[in-house]
Amino acid sequence: MALYSEKVMDHFRNPRNVGSIENPSGVGEVGNAKCGDIMKIYLKIENEIITDVKFETFGCGSAIASSSIATELIKGKPVSEALELSNKAVVEALEGLPVHKLHCSVLAEEAIKAAVQDYYEKNGIAYDKTQFPDCEACGHCHE
Ligand code: FES
Repeated sequence: MALYSEKVMDHFRNPRNVGSIENPSGVGEVGNAKCGDIMKIYLKIENEIITDVKFETFGCGSAIASSSIATELIKGKPVSEALELSNKAVVEALEGLPVHKLHCSVLAEEAIKAAVQDYYEKNGIAYDKTQFPDCEACGHCHE
């Protein structure tokens, strides 16, 4: 069996929504200290709907495919739905990732959450902090 699904290869070869957004509503950047990969997600939000999303990923093929499909999954959706996107849903949409590549999909979930949190912070919107990973406590981007 091939290591990577057709879906992964497709999103790796032709990633959707690559780039950045001028004056984004929120930006999230996360990294994995072990592999050194970095993912950045830009969101444009209007009336609580994600009207545009772009990504820049400096990382492996699985990270690129994960970010690409994650942008497709949240585009046009309410912010609340984007917050619920789990790395598991990203893996399912990609029709699977090898076990040693599952952490790449975690970056997509974390980058989206970080971008939404940035949006809340920038706009002075009250939010439930427990919905977000505690960076200080985790510290895995900086270890
Ligand atoms: Fe690091 Fe894929 S190997 S994100």
